[in-house]
Amino acid sequence: MKTILWATLTANGNYAQSGPEHPPKKEALDDFAAHAKAVGNFIVGRRTFEGMRGNGGPGPFAGIDIVVVSKNASEIPGVTVARSPKEALDYLKQKGHQSALISGGADIHNSFLGQGLVDEVIFNVAPVLEGKGLNLLIDKDSYRYKHVQLLECKPLGGGVVHLRYAIDRADSQEV
Ligand SMILES: NC(=O)c1ccc[n+]([C@@H]2O[C@H](COP(=O)([O-])OP(=O)(O)OC[C@H]3O[C@@H](n4cnc5c(N)ncnc54)[C@H](OP(=O)(O)O)[C@@H]3O)[C@@H](O)[C@H]2O)c1
Repeated sequence: MKTILWATLTANGNYAQSGPEHPPKKEALDDFAAHAKAVGNFIVGRRTFEGMRGNGGPGPFAGIDIVVVSKNASEIPGVTVARSPKEALDYLKQKGHQSALISGGADIHNSFLGQGLVDEVIFNVAPVLEGKGLNLLIDKDSYRYKHVQLLECKPLGGGVVHLRYAIDRADSQEV
C-alpha cells in the first residue's frame, strides 16, 4: 500500500500549528480535502482528530474512511481506532484501499517517518513564520540524512506552494 504524508509547513520550515486565532489557509485545507477524497481515507492522531471534530458531524469527510491512532482511546463513533501506525495501515489495506493519507499531527507524522512507513510526502508551504514550534523528523533521537525525489512543485494560490516528494523506503541506510 502506498502511504502519503500530507502536511502544511511554515515558510521557515516548522510543521505549522493552527488554532482559532491562526486558522489554516483555505488553499491548504482544500488541497487536503481533495487528497482525502482521492484516496478515500485518512489516518490522524488522536489529538488532531479531537481538534478537527468540531460539532461531531461528518462535515466534508462523509464517506471517507477515517482511522484515529491512539494507544488509549476507546471506541469513537464513525471512525476506526488503531493502536499503532502499522495497525492503521493494515486496517485500510484489508478494506481494499490502494493508498493511505497520513494527515497529522506531529506525533503521528514522526511515528510514520521514524518507522520508515512513508512513500511520498506532500508539503504545502504557507506564507507564515513561526517561533519555536514543531518539526517533522525522520529520526527523533539521532541525526540522519536522506535524499528524496521532487515530483511536483506548484502554487496553490493565497501564497501557498505545493511540494511533493518521493521517498525510497529501501534506501533507509543513509546516515
Ligand atoms: N501542519 C499541519 O498540516 C497540521 C496538521 C494537523 C495538525 N497539526 C498540528 O499538530 C499539532 C497536534 O499534533 P500532536 O503531535 O500534538 O498530536 P497528534 O499527532 O495529532 O496526536 C497524538 C496522539 O496520537 C497517538 N499516537 C501518536 N503516536 C502513536 C503511536 N506510535 N502509536 C499509537 N498512538 C500514537 C497518541 O494518542 P493517545 O494519547 O490517545 O494514546 C498521541 O497522544 C497541533 O498543533 C496542530 O495544529 C498540523
